[in-house]
Amino acid sequence: MGPGFSIRETKKEDHLQVKGFIELVDNDFYPPLSKRGGGIPERIEKCLDTPDANFLVARLMGRDRTYLPEDFIAMVGYTRNWKSDDSAYINFLATHPEHRNGGVSKALCMRLEEVLVEQDVKSIYLCTWSGNPAAIKFYEKLGYYSYTVVLNDRGIGIDTIYYKKKI
Ligand SMILES: CC(C)(COP(=O)(O)OP(=O)(O)OC[C@H]1O[C@@H](n2cnc3c(N)ncnc32)[C@H](O)[C@@H]1OP(=O)(O)O)[C@@H](O)C(=O)NCCC(=O)NCCS
Repeated sequence: MGPGFSIRETKKEDHLQVKGFIELVDNDFYPPLSKRGGGIPERIEKCLDTPDANFLVARLMGRDRTYLPEDFIAMVGYTRNWKSDDSAYINFLATHPEHRNGGVSKALCMRLEEVLVEQDVKSIYLCTWSGNPAAIKFYEKLGYYSYTVVLNDRGIGIDTIYYKKKI
């Protein structure tokens, strides 16, 4: 069992830590987030503490907090009013490499569902890619189902898989 953690929404003042965390996991994404249109700066500008979007972040609690230079251990980004005013989109999800398989992202996604249900959101959308078995297993275990696959969308043999969950 890993150290305990707490979950909260991010604020504008978290900009540096949010940036540091995305940079830390950038190469776990395909293509890396820094290589996509607008890169990491635009992603943060569009998602950090805006009227329609924000991140939920998991932070280490208690005496273990000091062992990471930055204390974010996982982060999920969401955008409301996605396909309609009762749907949202997960635009980012990652757990710090040293804290994977400890249930942190599952806890973040469950909390996100609670937050969105309170705001009358009925469906969550997201996408991942076919070379990411960890994310595929993760999302399917959480009850997401795939509704569209765009073949070779990210390169030869790398498909984009679109997922949805009703909450
Ligand atoms: C995908 C990712 C976010 C999962 O985060 P995590 O904190 O390690 O996941 P959790 O520990 O909360 O796992 C929740 C469930 O998913 C399963 N799971 C997680 N990683 C898995 C893996 N590599 N292989 C198989 N199953 C996995 C767990 O077994 C667990 O199942 P359980 O509820 O039955 O115990 C993490 O691997 C990651 O950050 N990957 C790199 C970034 C990325 O790919 N993000 C998604 C892009 S769309």
